[in-house]
Amino acid sequence: MKTLTHKLTMTTALVSTLLLGAATAHAQPQAEVLHYWTSGGEAKAVQALKEDFEANGGKWIDAPVAGGGGDAQAAVLRSRVLSGNPPAAVQIKGPNIHEWAATGALGDLTAVGEAEGWDNVLPPLLQDIVKYDGKYVAVPVNIHRVDWIWANPEVLAKVDAEPPRTWDEFNAIADKLMAAGITPLAHGGQPWQDATIFETVALGLGGAEFFNKAFVEKDPETLKSDTMKKVFDQMRKMRGYVDADFPGRDWNLATGMVMRGEAAMQIMGDWAKGEFVAAGKKPGVDFLCIPTPSNGGYILNSDSFAMFKVTSADDNAGQELLARLILGEKFQETFNLYKGSIPARMGVNSDKFDECAVKSMIDLQASSEGGELVGSVAHEIAAAGAIRGAVLDVVTEHFNSDMTSEAAVERLAEAIELAE
Ligand code: BGC
Repeated sequence: MKTLTHKLTMTTALVSTLLLGAATAHAQPQAEVLHYWTSGGEAKAVQALKEDFEANGGKWIDAPVAGGGGDAQAAVLRSRVLSGNPPAAVQIKGPNIHEWAATGALGDLTAVGEAEGWDNVLPPLLQDIVKYDGKYVAVPVNIHRVDWIWANPEVLAKVDAEPPRTWDEFNAIADKLMAAGITPLAHGGQPWQDATIFETVALGLGGAEFFNKAFVEKDPETLKSDTMKKVFDQMRKMRGYVDADFPGRDWNLATGMVMRGEAAMQIMGDWAKGEFVAAGKKPGVDFLCIPTPSNGGYILNSDSFAMFKVTSADDNAGQELLARLILGEKFQETFNLYKGSIPARMGVNSDKFDECAVKSMIDLQASSEGGELVGSVAHEIAAAGAIRGAVLDVVTEHFNSDMTSEAAVERLAEAIELAE
């Protein structure tokens, strides 16, 4: 009896496997892709992915949610998952991927990863982000560097400014620009943008060890330290360098101000380069990419697509196809040239990449060897969820009020403790 049942189970399993194989073979790969890439450069990058997917027989269902940094998209994703109707592929990153995986919402891409040899082409740092419990649950698209100044060389020349190597030099240039009636800093007053500036200042003034002690270890002494007070002092100065219309402005509009010479500089990750490039501007000629002052530091951000559990054979086939294409060598080149980032995949030929991307590649290696590489807080690599939210809240509140640095560090330590 036992044997019969066993045989029956085996036969049923075999038949289902064959059926499933047949279904997958005839499946029409499709994927609803939830993302927040809606600016000029971002749209070109995501279009490249769509075209590649379609050229390989996939049906792309576009689900864009406008709003830089992805905070608006996060709310849409939560409600889609809660209503039992998740999109097949979603642009999420860092610890968020693990948080979603822990809820059991993500599918398993390990078979694709093994077939494509991802273990050999992905740097261990990115493998840690996209693997959960030893299984691939997401696929990384790129590496973005956050700690950049995008500058208009003609505007800087008006005050004879050289690229700043320290925050004091940055302030000296900004003061000169102010005196000449030029807005030093193009900025959009949104919490994630405030936090983007804040983290570059924190790395610059404190270094990687300080950065990690504060935001990864959440050490109260470090959060309330004199160094952190200096970081907020510098943020107060930055507040003085932005124009009156900064509240709520989208990041790409701030990039446009630098392009048109209405402001000298913007502090933003290299997705800003995607905007310059989409507008036909050349690095070193029309714009400069200057790492924000730090001692050999690098703030890493990496976009990934997580594949949510879906039931139809078409959706499953779509997820597999998408995952395979994303890490393909040619695609890594095409996509990242538009996006302003550098490939997530190791060994992609760098010939077509511009001087900013090459600098990013070199500095990434050097900062990693020198222990000065950190994950972004504003962009959800070193921290996500409530901890990131606590940092954003305090930084924004400080930026938009006359809060002292002493009060800000107390608030920061308190908010992070509450968020834990
Ligand atoms: C993402 C980028 C995106 C930028 C602006 C960052 O957090 O990693 O891909 O271009 O936000 O939306």
